[in-house]
Amino acid sequence: MAFLSDTLARVKPSQTIAVTNKARELAATGRDVIGLGAGEPDFDTPQNIKDAAKRAIDEGKTKYTAVDGIPELKKAICAKFKRENGLDYTPAQVSVATGGKQILYNALMATLNPGDEVIIPAPYWVSYPDMVLLAGGTPVPVAAGIETGFKLTPAQLEAAITPKTKWFIFNSPSNPTGAGYTRDELKALTDVLMRHPQVWIMSDDMYEHLVFDDFEFTSPAQVEPGLYDRTLTCNGVSKAYAMTGWRIGYCAGPVELIKAMGTIQSQSTSNPCSVSQYAALEGLTGPQDFLATNRALFQRRRDLVVGMLNEAKGIVCPKPEGAFYVYPDISACIGKTSAGGAVIGDDEAFATALLEETGVAVVFGAAFGLSPNFRISYATSDEQLREACARIQGFCAGLS
Ligand SMILES: Cc1ncc(COP(=O)(O)O)c(C=O)c1O
Repeated sequence: MAFLSDTLARVKPSQTIAVTNKARELAATGRDVIGLGAGEPDFDTPQNIKDAAKRAIDEGKTKYTAVDGIPELKKAICAKFKRENGLDYTPAQVSVATGGKQILYNALMATLNPGDEVIIPAPYWVSYPDMVLLAGGTPVPVAAGIETGFKLTPAQLEAAITPKTKWFIFNSPSNPTGAGYTRDELKALTDVLMRHPQVWIMSDDMYEHLVFDDFEFTSPAQVEPGLYDRTLTCNGVSKAYAMTGWRIGYCAGPVELIKAMGTIQSQSTSNPCSVSQYAALEGLTGPQDFLATNRALFQRRRDLVVGMLNEAKGIVCPKPEGAFYVYPDISACIGKTSAGGAVIGDDEAFATALLEETGVAVVFGAAFGLSPNFRISYATSDEQLREACARIQGFCAGLS
């Protein structure tokens, strides 16, 4: 009898975490490594949030809480959805978990049966397909390439839907491409979904606050109120409030689903960290001005990276609407040989040779389900970005 479960055989560890670890290991040996793999802001959690957490500790708010979130936080989440998204939810429709990741996982665990299909536009956040597999469902990736700005078209969505489709996972702005759907583009997708009442929508709005130029963020239940009863609107404080380590994510949706997610959580992790919940409460209810400051900072970095990558030989880098990622195409580099003698057979070989020969760590496109590309997280200093892009330019110039 095998010791490890059959379920485990279906999934693989997160490739983005693997790249980050590899870069850390290389740096530990004294190599000059620039890590552009990690998907987290490079600055610290705002002081008012840290102070709220310290107060919570001093006030003894260190015990178990309600499994899916303290009432104050749920109330603040309802206010956030109303204020920022025009969506009406009651606290009973809200769930709080240990990161946005657990929210998505709970929802899939609570709903998927063997054979249930989940449509996932590719490139996708690495965890979506594996979470679907862990929950016993079948991921259905649909390629949305550079020609459509990495966005799924209504015709593609229509074609992917079957009687077995249970969820459509929607992520805008996207990890890994930064692509954001305009209201009209999203409406065209929700029009398709209106025709298929068996399909639920999991909207992962994690990068809502990181949008640039005049891009307006919208969420499916907001654009099409007819989908409200079968949409789970997911979000979290990790990216917007520089709180990745605090592990707080949240969502709102139909009560029956929220209750089912609570059952999963009650038998696995119980409540998310009490102190982190008070910190998140301060994040959502305290001053919001640093969101605009961060947006401006990331926009400047996006422009820097897109500009420099497009000057690299063989790289085409679209300009994303949001998040802190770019997802350049490297078709013209495939089949070449690097200055260090590595054959660039695919994007994984590109990323490996780039790391070994220049010390720049990026995540190869195959990890996100669309090749040949790589993802850069530009949540690092301008100086590091400039240096990293210069090294990438040098690496590409050396391909023959
Ligand atoms: C698209 C997307 N959704 C969800 C998450 C999970 O966020 P959290 O750190 O809150 O679990 C991430 C984190 O990288 C993400 O990129």
